[in-house]
Amino acid sequence: MLITFEGPEGSGKSTLIKNLNTRLQEVGIDCVATREPGGHPTAEKIRSILLQESMNPVTELLLYQAARSEHLTKVILPALKKKKWVLCDRFTDSTLAYQGYARGLDLKLIKKMNLIATQGLVPNLTLLLDLPVETGLSRASDPNRFEKAGLAFHKKVRQGFLKIAKAEPKRIKVLSVAKLSPDQVVDQAIEIIIKRLKR
Ligand code: TYD
Repeated sequence: MLITFEGPEGSGKSTLIKNLNTRLQEVGIDCVATREPGGHPTAEKIRSILLQESMNPVTELLLYQAARSEHLTKVILPALKKKKWVLCDRFTDSTLAYQGYARGLDLKLIKKMNLIATQGLVPNLTLLLDLPVETGLSRASDPNRFEKAGLAFHKKVRQGFLKIAKAEPKRIKVLSVAKLSPDQVVDQAIEIIIKRLKR
């Protein structure tokens, strides 16, 4: 299984992945928890450029896809081949939401580039952690340049994610997390995963 976790800033993806990883390992499911951009030394180098420096939107898009291609071939595909589950913090939907819906780059072009970078691999399940933008941003203690991008930008990101989820309801499940504790979020995520396994 490849499960991806998406959502606006401060939606609690990394806490959920950590808790889910523990719970899955407890029942004998071998998981690899990873993230984008990054997850592999070369991709992590690209990550640090992306998070620190402002750049032309097309350059940004190309770098996200370059990091993804490296991460896919060096981490995700080998793990799936070993029958491990991969839990990935952000993936292709983030590119559509941030570079497409928020930055305004062509959605069709991004979809094509996503396909190239992932070699056509589509997540078995995507959990979209949704919450009001103001709530999420207030949680960022040491904001990176994306977190500093302003409310209007982040509102476009959130609306973008919700549109993407609406278009692919089978793959993408939306979890409204604003009023949930981390334990409640992991419990709901597990329910969704069990349903997906039964399908
Ligand atoms: P990170 O600190 O990991 O943010 P978060 O904890 O919210 O996931 O930084 C990753 C940033 O990169 C985040 O602001 C979203 C952005 N991003 C894109 O703009 N496009 C992408 O394709 C991906 C994967 C991330």
